[in-house]
Amino acid sequence: MVTRKCLKISCAISVVLLLIIVGVMLTLYFTILKPKQPILIPQPVTLLHLHSDSPLEFNLTLGLTVTVDNRNYGSFTYQDSMLYINYHDTEVANGLLAADTIPARAKHNISTSVVVFGDRLVTNVNFKSDVFGGVMNFTSSSVLHGEAKVLKFIKKKATSYTTCNISIHITQRTPYSVCKNELKL
Ligand SMILES: *[C@@H]1O[C@H](CO)[C@@H](O)[C@H](O)[C@H]1NC(C)=O
Ligand SMILES: *[C@@H]1O[C@H](CO)[C@@H](O)[C@H](O)[C@H]1NC(C)=O
Ligand SMILES: *[C@@H]1O[C@H](CO)[C@@H](O)[C@H](O)[C@H]1NC(C)=O
Ligand SMILES: *[C@@H]1O[C@H](CO)[C@@H](O)[C@H](O)[C@H]1NC(C)=O
Repeated sequence: MVTRKCLKISCAISVVLLLIIVGVMLTLYFTILKPKQPILIPQPVTLLHLHSDSPLEFNLTLGLTVTVDNRNYGSFTYQDSMLYINYHDTEVANGLLAADTIPARAKHNISTSVVVFGDRLVTNVNFKSDVFGGVMNFTSSSVLHGEAKVLKFIKKKATSYTTCNISIHITQRTPYSVCKNELKL
């Protein structure tokens, strides 16, 4: 019994790790920098905090750094922004992109901290059948309020809404995603 719980949990954690990386990357990718899309490189995820009362009640806080290579001549400043990851209409993780400025034509590290509600994932009624079926579907959503600065004096306020459908094939650990992005200037 214990082993099965552990298997469930490690499975959930590795899927969620992958999911978070994908979710954060997609948010950044669809939002931050135009006209040239940035090059994004995720750094290893670090475990910041694990809160566990029992094998089925746990949540964890992860730190994720993404290196953004901004190839544009404009910088981008944004306010604190949240990213939400849902599994069958239940929020299973959220992340905070702390307010930051990405300088023009430079590499910059963005740090996020993500809370994963592991128990909500493993106790979801769909969890078992999805794991056996080999595919888990998630949705991510984020709203990012920012300001692009071009040529030092032209400023453009922008709000970016991104929603994604992310499917993860458990055995191959490969994510597949479709996103919709709406930019309001
Ligand atoms: C993490 O889980 C514990 C126990 O399940 C809960 O008391 C705590 O509020 C959770 N933390 C967050 C940030 O949700
Ligand atoms: C970003 O973080 C990585 C890993 O921590 C580090 O190797 C790299 O030098 C950092 N890059 C910048 C531009 O700070
Ligand atoms: C997961 O999403 C894929 C692609 O959108 C879809 O084909 C599949 O039916 C979904 N699976 C489940 C279990 O919802
Ligand atoms: C995600 O899936 C839902 C339900 O299948 C669909 O209505 C929605 O348009 C999809 N979103 C994207 C961005 O493809």
